Amino acid sequence: MACRPRQDDALTHFASVSYIYRRRAPRWFCAAQRSPNEDVVSMDKIRILLVDDEATVLKVVQMAMRATIECDIITATSAGEALRIMEKERIDAVVCDIGMPVMDGATFVNVVAELYPNTTRLIFTALRSTDALGLQTAGAAHQFFLKPTSIRLLAEKIKCVQRLRSRLPAQGMDMIVAKVRSLPSLPAVYTELEQALNHPNSSMDMVGKVLEKDIAMSAKVLQLVNSAFFGTHERMTRPAQAAVHLGGEVLKSLLLGLHLFTAWKTPCIPCSSIQELWRHGLAVATAAREIALAEGCTRAQADEYYAAGLFHDIGKIIIADNLPESCDHIQKIVQERGVAITQAEKEVLGATHAEAGAYLMALWGFSDNIVNSCAFHHQPSQDATPGCGPLAAVHVANVFDHAQVPCGKIPMATLDQAYIVRMGLAPKMEAWRRLAAGAVPA
Ligand SMILES: [Fe+2]
Ligand SMILES: [Fe+2]
Repeated sequence: MACRPRQDDALTHFASVSYIYRRRAPRWFCAAQRSPNEDVVSMDKIRILLVDDEATVLKVVQMAMRATIECDIITATSAGEALRIMEKERIDAVVCDIGMPVMDGATFVNVVAELYPNTTRLIFTALRSTDALGLQTAGAAHQFFLKPTSIRLLAEKIKCVQRLRSRLPAQGMDMIVAKVRSLPSLPAVYTELEQALNHPNSSMDMVGKVLEKDIAMSAKVLQLVNSAFFGTHERMTRPAQAAVHLGGEVLKSLLLGLHLFTAWKTPCIPCSSIQELWRHGLAVATAAREIALAEGCTRAQADEYYAAGLFHDIGKIIIADNLPESCDHIQKIVQERGVAITQAEKEVLGATHAEAGAYLMALWGFSDNIVNSCAFHHQPSQDATPGCGPLAAVHVANVFDHAQVPCGKIPMATLDQAYIVRMGLAPKMEAWRRLAAGAVPA
């Protein structure tokens, strides 16, 4: 039987620690938002625990959720009651209020993150703030929703997360991804950001330009800025814009107080280096944006293509940061047998960086286009939904960049010809290749 930490110990621990912590594009190209493949995997019925001290809210949310997705819903009117339920029953996702008596929602999600790291943790609150209480949830909560947000949206997000989780080995990679509070940054960019935030003459525009050079910090600020606490009504996809919106004080808290921005210390990435992984991410992002603009996307849509490119290999960062020994093993298999990294990852971990990255993007509330671009960037034909959009641009840009910067004889990526033909993209390949070759990261 698995050994779980006792609830009382965790509560004592948390009580004793200060716990902060687009010209118009053709329809075929700019596909509508859609959920990652709905029909590929089978899932157990999702079990959701709603925690709110207002019984009427529980009743309304419970009814609306049941009307939206197939799920079991359990309710609790306090964090204590919720933790007692979690001791006895499997819970896939908790949705909790933040302003609750005795134990507030911020403390509750931190306790859940510690005791049940695999549980999806969502905050559903009427409060909008960047104060200490809000910031306390920035690492532990996966997503934030502001009442009276659409319960349908909340339920759909939970369903998407559970679907992507079911693609990963249970109690393995799924657990590792769900525990991720933040990812390490390129050391040089981390230092540059630290200096920019502490320099009296730095403007937030300058800080934003530094931050968007880093994949990890870009992902974290976009997760937060698109959340209820820090958010705006418009969805942001540009990291620099997100940094300006959050402001210097919140960024300093993330860097110094919450340690959600950290510099990379264990640089082991199979067939690559951290510098090369970052260069590749920025190159694919820039090429995807150029392709989007050339195909008639708006600036805002092209920004989403950029983000999809920037984060397409974020799963490699997750694996390298959390499983260094597995990285060594993957590297050895790739070098000795000359197989693709994804094949070695599958053998060692039971999942690929694409699947791990897509799960993190879904957990953090990123758009379906970004989640799909992570999940299927190596084999987009596995995406059964119609249309292409960012996934096509990211897939092609990824292949072209690997062709320009090869990794010895190791097979990195090849064009998914079946997909290219199915989407009618073959006549565009030469033009896209030139765009990708000429795209220079800012
Ligand atoms: Fe990849
Ligand atoms: Fe890649």
